[in-house]
Amino acid sequence: MNTICGYNIIDHEYDVVIIGAGGAGLRATLGMSSSGLKTACITKVFPTRSHTVAAQGGMSAALGNMGEDHWKWHMYDTVKGSDWLGDQDAIEYMCREAGASVIELEHFGVPFSRTEDGKIYQRPFGGMTTNYGEGIAQRTCAAADRTGHAILHTLYQQSLKHKAKFYIEFFALDLIMDGDTCRGVIAWDLTTGTLHRFRAHQVVLATGGCGRIYFSATSAHTCTGDGNAMVLRAGLPLQDMEFVQFHPTGVYGSGVLITEGVRGEGGYLTNSKGERFMERYAPNAKDLASRDVVSRAMTIEINEGRGIGPDKDHLHLNLMHLGLDVINERLPGIAENARVFGGVDVEKEPIPVIPTVHYNMGGIPTNYHGEVIKLDANDEEQVVPGLMAIGEAACVSVHGANRLGSNSLLDIIVFGRAAALRAVELVKADTKHAEIDEQISEDIISRFDKIRNAKGSNSTASIRDNMQRTMQRHAAVFRNGELLQQGVDKVQTVFDSFSDVSVADSSLSWNTDLLETLELDNMLVQAQTIIHGALNRQESRGGHAREDYPDRDDEHWMKHTLCQVNPTGEVKFNYRPVHMFTLTDECEVIPPKKRVY
Ligand code: FUM
Repeated sequence: MNTICGYNIIDHEYDVVIIGAGGAGLRATLGMSSSGLKTACITKVFPTRSHTVAAQGGMSAALGNMGEDHWKWHMYDTVKGSDWLGDQDAIEYMCREAGASVIELEHFGVPFSRTEDGKIYQRPFGGMTTNYGEGIAQRTCAAADRTGHAILHTLYQQSLKHKAKFYIEFFALDLIMDGDTCRGVIAWDLTTGTLHRFRAHQVVLATGGCGRIYFSATSAHTCTGDGNAMVLRAGLPLQDMEFVQFHPTGVYGSGVLITEGVRGEGGYLTNSKGERFMERYAPNAKDLASRDVVSRAMTIEINEGRGIGPDKDHLHLNLMHLGLDVINERLPGIAENARVFGGVDVEKEPIPVIPTVHYNMGGIPTNYHGEVIKLDANDEEQVVPGLMAIGEAACVSVHGANRLGSNSLLDIIVFGRAAALRAVELVKADTKHAEIDEQISEDIISRFDKIRNAKGSNSTASIRDNMQRTMQRHAAVFRNGELLQQGVDKVQTVFDSFSDVSVADSSLSWNTDLLETLELDNMLVQAQTIIHGALNRQESRGGHAREDYPDRDDEHWMKHTLCQVNPTGEVKFNYRPVHMFTLTDECEVIPPKKRVY
């Protein structure tokens, strides 16, 4: 055992270390461990409590079980849904691999719902069409409305079968970056309070999104984007962080998700006049338009006084007409969530809903193998050796400016699998590890120690509340320059207030005060990337709707934002071209055009 900065350090060596045990992390863990790599998975919550457990509606794949379908139609929808900010090579890869990935999950044991003739059941989801926008596709493979739950449990069982080693309730502090190369990670064992240094030839960040930067989110309280923050502290950029998705149907008041699958099964939205208002905004797709379109329409209805309730601040999602059989068979979890969190009986009354923060389209830039990329001095894409990112933490970028519902479960499985395939190519099992300079570990542990012993005058809860309210107010569904500039100033003030944070409890075992403070530090740096990115991008595209720049501007802004943040909160931008090329010549580039639903 080593001692660094007064802390005993327990050392471990693995071929690969995955941080995060949601669907992406577990799919990578399974792929790597089953291929003979010595694999560890570090997770701050028990694997089956990871946020993937909350994914409801399903996973897209053009299986064609319930009508004609093709992966090229899926690719078209995804590019269009992304508002032409998605990288088309990566989108091709994802849509082509979708079918095989679902069938593989089925063989691993995922209990998908079934059609009468025993095939995997598929439901319609927003923006998913047949024949390049002509019809509505039934493409989303579902296990009732608990698809993420089913996938997560299956992958955890499979990973255990292949002897992956899990470090459960361990919080990753920082990457061990040796110059440009990642050589491992240091983590804090929340149970015993010990610090652990993991060396690995590949570290895979599967740490999820940062929805909790906002006041109201469908995300679990654990969604603090810890991997993204580690990447920023390593001096690497995050990509397209200004694109934050609002899910149209979070339960009013609690933010709990009501799946888009409700609208896929025939549910619809109404305003205070009882109007099915989506007919006005998206005459063809109506309630099944893509999420950015539906969330904006809902916000306009509320802003123009047609909201419901004493404050006219929410809308209704109706599913009473679907009948008990459909609800019990296809949407049992929704009925329960609506009762517990919305206080309604879905058989008799509509669910009060409001657009709620749901997903980060942006994240750690990667190629379609899951390798983290950065730009070199000539602005050429270069792989960061030893570092991968997958799932919501990553920006591959398959979702561009707006993600289609059910493309997230697909993304985590396809790219978790892709990262495993790549790691098997790159890493030879049991290869010796490079020596690492002790100073790198000292720097990581000093930061931990400084926060642990912080005795300022601001509580973690008060700083977090200020950040969340500022983001909710200033970087919402609709944005404008004035509001964003105020937000930038306020976020900087909140960021600065962290230097005067107070951690009351300095113990090491089960210290949730310290854990939440470390998470807050992680969120604050990402809040900078979101609010500055939103002010910087002077156009409207996908989930980023600027009232002062209402049009998409392909000439100036069809490019990815790369954002770095220095320790004082100052941000620096660079840009990367969108991949307007395909992976193979079996399909063609989908040229930009106006999105009509
Ligand atoms: O509405 C939902 O079931 C969420 C799915 C998703 O975000 O992909």
